[in-house]
Amino acid sequence: MVKASHVLDRLLVLEMVRVTEAAAVAASKLVGRGDEKAADQAAVEAMRDALNQLDFDGTVVIGEGERDEAPMLYIGEKVGAAQGEGPKIDIALDPLEGTTITAKAGANAMAVLAIAEEGHLLNAPDVYMEKLAVGPGYPDGVIDLNKSPTENIRAIAAAKGVDPHEIIVCVLDRPRHAALIAELRALGCGINLIPDGDVAGVIAVTDPDTTIDVYMGSGGAPEGVLAAAALRCVGGQFQGKLLFRNDDERARAAQWGVTDLNRIYHLEELAQGDVIFAATGVTDGTLLEGVKRRKGCLTTESVVMRASTGTVRWVKGEHRRAPGEHD
Ligand code: FBP
Repeated sequence: MVKASHVLDRLLVLEMVRVTEAAAVAASKLVGRGDEKAADQAAVEAMRDALNQLDFDGTVVIGEGERDEAPMLYIGEKVGAAQGEGPKIDIALDPLEGTTITAKAGANAMAVLAIAEEGHLLNAPDVYMEKLAVGPGYPDGVIDLNKSPTENIRAIAAAKGVDPHEIIVCVLDRPRHAALIAELRALGCGINLIPDGDVAGVIAVTDPDTTIDVYMGSGGAPEGVLAAAALRCVGGQFQGKLLFRNDDERARAAQWGVTDLNRIYHLEELAQGDVIFAATGVTDGTLLEGVKRRKGCLTTESVVMRASTGTVRWVKGEHRRAPGEHD
């Protein structure tokens, strides 16, 4: 049982939806326009404006960071209207998870954030992370990043009471995953290859309607922390290992306080204690519907969840003027 945080006022739960709604609506104007940077910039500006209206002393601990060149909500940026006075909140955010998806009008682009008390989210450097996740209902320890994909699939299949070839795995469609995909094909697994958007890919394991049993492969470490925050609320198991491709990345790890480069992080080490996770769909996806424009109004779909209560709220918004617009 996770203790409720007094710092995370329950009113913040719905405020988080306003923030992701604002970013999603701003990005949605650029869906299918072929301009990743413009879409990202619109989402960043809207999310920053919305965060700066909130009565807290917030710090971005996972942001647009070092990898993207777009104007950032950068790591260390202070947000919130009560600097030095209000509750101290750490924020992991991705104003537009799926910039390429948005530019190409693909599936699963979302505006995403997670908040926790100061010091409760892993300050992950912007490197890759090897990820392994299953949904709720499996025995503890069924997945293990120290084991091979084949061993993990066999363990999951045994726990589910099916043959390995009945397991469906979600994997980012990248050349670096060729060996993983070949190993999964040899087992006869179904592979759901996604072009981008592994926050939604990981969360998909928690929803039986997606039929996805397990997420495997590497993607952004910041996205790993965001996905872990969601799983802290809805259940499931996640393991992540930071991947360092060169000395520059290893040096940056030290700068962010990562000393054990081979450490495998479990859910609680990525997002500790009480956590609130919120996301709003930009384009239609497995988790959320995208922003829809109708005459005189637009609609949004969001999800917001909290670790201490396990409550998951689905919020359908009908907006006569865009979220974030104010007098
Ligand atoms: P962006 O929102 O920054 O475009 O990230 C999309 C994404 O697909 C993430 O979901 C994923 O973690 C990461 O990119 C994978 O990185 P890469 O494209 O380098 O394989």
